[in-house]
Amino acid sequence: MVKTIEYIDGVVRMIDQTRLPNEKVFVDCKTVEDVGHAIKTMIIRGAPAIGVAAAMGISLAADAIDAPDFDTFYAELETKCAALGQSRPTAVNLAWAIERMQRIARDNSAMSVSDIKMRLKQEALSICEEDISANQAMGNHGQTLIASGQTVLTHCNAGALATAGFGTALGVIRAAISAGKDIKVLANETRPFLQGARLTAWELKEENIPVKLITDNMCGFFMKKGEVDAVVVGADRIAGNGDVANKIGTYMVAVLAQKHNIPFYVAAPVSTLDLSLASGDDIPIEERSTEEVVTLNNKRIAPEDIEVAHPAFDITPNELVTAIITERGIAKPPFTQSLKQLAEKS
Ligand code: MRU
Repeated sequence: MVKTIEYIDGVVRMIDQTRLPNEKVFVDCKTVEDVGHAIKTMIIRGAPAIGVAAAMGISLAADAIDAPDFDTFYAELETKCAALGQSRPTAVNLAWAIERMQRIARDNSAMSVSDIKMRLKQEALSICEEDISANQAMGNHGQTLIASGQTVLTHCNAGALATAGFGTALGVIRAAISAGKDIKVLANETRPFLQGARLTAWELKEENIPVKLITDNMCGFFMKKGEVDAVVVGADRIAGNGDVANKIGTYMVAVLAQKHNIPFYVAAPVSTLDLSLASGDDIPIEERSTEEVVTLNNKRIAPEDIEVAHPAFDITPNELVTAIITERGIAKPPFTQSLKQLAEKS
């Protein structure tokens, strides 16, 4: 399986996801600003991967600070954290990872600055390792919901590429296959950035997992024909009531799934829960460049001067969600209670 991100010798190395599937190129980030740029431009994307990259970026930022004492060090670190926190607004894993790194620095304020830098590096590596184990645990829980012989539809890329490894939604599929089940995947291409066509299709094909690519507007057709048994998607942020922010188009898939009595599962680590928000209405939705909508393969596909909108995420209301699969277990409705219980479980 491809390594999405690694932290080696003061360099954060990531596979450039804007160049897949045509080229397998790696990008080396040497500063926190390089990491921020990689997040903004989608060289690295997917909520958990963004969190891991941010933690590693903060470690790079810490290493670059030349400060005689903790207060000076922490003030500079906070400024770098605040700037990195602006890179993408919807995935809460970014703020979660930054806050976790800042807390480590504060909790160890009695150490020398060089020891705090070491501690921050260890923490970034732990966040990376924990993400992989969380995905494997999520996979083990989630695969119990999928039976052999089923076809699972997914939207966007919630795979190894969107995480430190193994994936969330695709982790559930990988775990089902490891458990000996015969599973087929239907992948929505996911306009306009094509994470399904470029990344999910590539990632699954690399492992010979049976996958059929469809355009987003075909999924209702296949559901109506009875050719979809379950939907599994990832999430960028889940509010306290179970409303789910995920890639634009997810809401449409969930409505269609309900219409056809198909279970709609969301797989996400506990770091994607934002229980401070009562509902999805409070989740900030990223607006991306309209260029991504009006161009395809660098070729303009719409008239000049046309008005264009590009919300990059939508909110799926909790009543359309059958269950939320986390590394700590499966939450079922009513989510206000079940998610709180999982968040409090250690
Ligand atoms: O804009 P992206 O590619 O970062 O959006 C990614 C998604 O919407 C994923 O489904 C989500 O982050 C979950 S990834 C495990």
